[in-house]
Amino acid sequence: MSNIRSSCTDACNFFGKHTPRELAERFGTPLYVYNENILRQRCRELRGLSAHPGFRVNYSAKANTNLTLLSIVHDEGCVVDAMSPGELHMNRLAGFAPKDILYVCNNVSDEELRNAIDNGVTVSVDSLSQIARYGRLNPGGRIMVRFNPGIGAGHHQKVITAGKETKFGVTPDNMDDVFTLLREHKLTLAGINQHIGSLFMEPRGYLEAAAFLLSLAERLPDGALETLEIIDFGGGFGIPYHKYEQESRLDMAELGHNLHGLLTDWSQRTGYRGRFYVEPGRYVVAECGVLLGRVHAVKNNGENRYVGTDLGFNVLVRPAMYDSFHDIEIYREGGEPDASTEIQTIVGNICESGDILAKKRALPPIREDDVLGVLDAGAYGYVMASTYNQRLRPAEVLIDADGDARCIRRRETLEDLLAGYADL
Ligand code: LLP
Repeated sequence: MSNIRSSCTDACNFFGKHTPRELAERFGTPLYVYNENILRQRCRELRGLSAHPGFRVNYSAKANTNLTLLSIVHDEGCVVDAMSPGELHMNRLAGFAPKDILYVCNNVSDEELRNAIDNGVTVSVDSLSQIARYGRLNPGGRIMVRFNPGIGAGHHQKVITAGKETKFGVTPDNMDDVFTLLREHKLTLAGINQHIGSLFMEPRGYLEAAAFLLSLAERLPDGALETLEIIDFGGGFGIPYHKYEQESRLDMAELGHNLHGLLTDWSQRTGYRGRFYVEPGRYVVAECGVLLGRVHAVKNNGENRYVGTDLGFNVLVRPAMYDSFHDIEIYREGGEPDASTEIQTIVGNICESGDILAKKRALPPIREDDVLGVLDAGAYGYVMASTYNQRLRPAEVLIDADGDARCIRRRETLEDLLAGYADL
């Protein structure tokens, strides 16, 4: 089928044996569609970053916890993180063994820590008070500590997770207090970790932060390096969201070459025999997901042309929350690629003026009943969706390795809105 704007998904045969319009018809919209081949390819790229025997890709499940996708990531040999009892539950259901789950939490209760301990997973905490809390619950246990390396990075202030302006991590100048608490509760330091922020496109900052964490590991008191099992450098690997402007990819070959060199030299020098983790979320799942929606109205308001869709910020909140950019494709029955463009703003069906999916974009004129594809929607898409305005969360479909489509989570129903009231 010829389309108005679809060269990105055409190039990777994203929809397999189907067309996006057919999928929209069959499963309804809004609809998250995932491509299994792309997901597997991303896992393999990441695992290929280093051949060091201790190197692991720790998929950050917060980006997408769909059970089918988690099982594929597991099948590809990644390990996984969790930051809530819900994520831990999903990881276990997807087949991850406790030894392959890392609980990287922030400001959690006794009950939540107890749940992680009972599940037998390694816990990383990121404040002195949480070390003490863990120590009271599990004296003599193992624990990891998340440090704040003082170097932050990210696509938006809201996702920079290191440096001074953030709630995360223990600053290295508190090291003595960390060890006093560890001794007090007879805890073994099982590992150290960090996460500087989300979405870097140049390897340098990440490598510098990794080198910093390694130098910190060497400076640990009490011979602690000998008991260390995990050194986790965090995630943040960026993907090119501006696909139609040919934005270049993060140079994984350069990143891998340098990271592998760093890990190999450092473990030879220090005798470290534990694991090294990278912890990407977005890089694993963003590009395997396209969000389909339908145009229900088009109007002009003064100079502005608005395209009204069913893609409100309840379905994909990133543009409203971070001003994030997602490329848009346009699928039309019998449509031909259109050379002319017009400035258009694509909006959803939520009762707020901030309900904007794509602001003032030069796109071929969009018409009623066109189906739109929002690219790179696999990460922080469905997981951040809500039932605001009592709208139902969408369905999710997988295009499997053979190109066939299968529903992997059904659309919510009005009964789902009532689930919490059922026992009242
Ligand atoms: N590890 C930790 C401890 C994290 O907090 C995060 C993300 C990751 C790993 C994975 O980061 P990634 O590789 O996905 O960048 N909702 C935002 C992103 C928030 C990221 C929060 N932490 C967005 O839609 O851009």
